[in-house]
Amino acid sequence: MSCDIDKAFVFLLCVFVTSWFFPGDLFGGGGGYVSMNATNDIIRLEGVRKTYEQGGRRQTVLDAVDASFPEGAVTVLLGKSGSGKSTLLNMLGGIDTADAGRITVAGHEVSAMNDRALTLFRRRTVGYVFQFFHLLPALTVLENVTLPQELDGRSAAGLRAKALGLLDRVGLAHKADAMPETLSGGEQQRVAIVRALAHDPAVLLADEPTGNLDAATGDQVLRLLLELTREAGKTLVIATHSHDVLPHADHVHEVRGGGVHKLSAGELLRQEHTLLASAGSTRDSAGSTRDSAGSTRDSAGDTRDSAGDTRASDIASTTSADAAPADVPRTDTGATSA
Ligand SMILES: Nc1ncnc2c1ncn2[C@@H]1O[C@H](COP(=O)(O)OP(=O)(O)OP(=O)(O)O)[C@@H](O)[C@H]1O
Ligand SMILES: [Mg+2]
Repeated sequence: MSCDIDKAFVFLLCVFVTSWFFPGDLFGGGGGYVSMNATNDIIRLEGVRKTYEQGGRRQTVLDAVDASFPEGAVTVLLGKSGSGKSTLLNMLGGIDTADAGRITVAGHEVSAMNDRALTLFRRRTVGYVFQFFHLLPALTVLENVTLPQELDGRSAAGLRAKALGLLDRVGLAHKADAMPETLSGGEQQRVAIVRALAHDPAVLLADEPTGNLDAATGDQVLRLLLELTREAGKTLVIATHSHDVLPHADHVHEVRGGGVHKLSAGELLRQEHTLLASAGSTRDSAGSTRDSAGSTRDSAGDTRDSAGDTRASDIASTTSADAAPADVPRTDTGATSA
């Protein structure tokens, strides 16, 4: 019985991953190509709406969304569970389609593409990192990385050398011939990152890339993801409900109430202060001497004490010169108001 369930799971996973590369018509063009706008926004959403219907109930998850994300930047989509982050990312990646509005990614008008054009768009223009890795279980690590490009008609020999180079970068060259099931979660996600980058996509989309990993492994995976995408000068959009990624973000947009709202420095700091305050009061109720006003004061940076927790250090690094979101003025300049 459990064997049947395992087989069913493997089958469904294969269908899902394969459909990413094989859906609809396999070859040919057919999608609109539009030039990028003057501000170098590589991703633009205009009046985008997405409604799901299930069991006779309609739910509008995103409505009249206008947003744009700049080229070469790390943009974080923040939002509570169910707010629509994956829905948005899936539409950017051409996995799902919008009901209304216009979506443009790297010059391609995704919202106007037919199935055939979407297949090519997914193979060539975007790389995707999923929370649950989605490696094909019947293929080796190396084959998982090279298969999408082989499908696109590229020479296996050239692909192999590049894939091995990237696997080496994430410390997994020695696992090239291993099967995914023999890898740890962190290792599988590192392979997924290599697969997402191997075809040199313009845009990387990562949906809760550390959501299925412990904190230390998640940190390592996030670091590698950022390192490789920044090195290659790629645009990265990360959907997450975790604030841990904020210190690495150039821009932060919150998915909330059906909309996508770009957060200013002040709004980000207020959110962090609220988290600090509630963390402080939780500690207080557990017997800690630090009160929530103290933790809020700590987070401002200049009066931070040695008891500053992870959140406080997040804010410190968020506002440091090398890791600050482009939108976020440094607190030590005093320019922290919205
Ligand atoms: N295929 C679908 N059919 C029906 N409803 C869906 C479908 N996909 C998503 N939804 C609904 O849309 C809403 C947004 O889902 P989505 O997965 O985008 O949220 P999320 O922000 O990614 O959440 P999480 O942080 O938990 O991953 C949820 O209420 C979800 O139930
Ligand atoms: Mg999600």
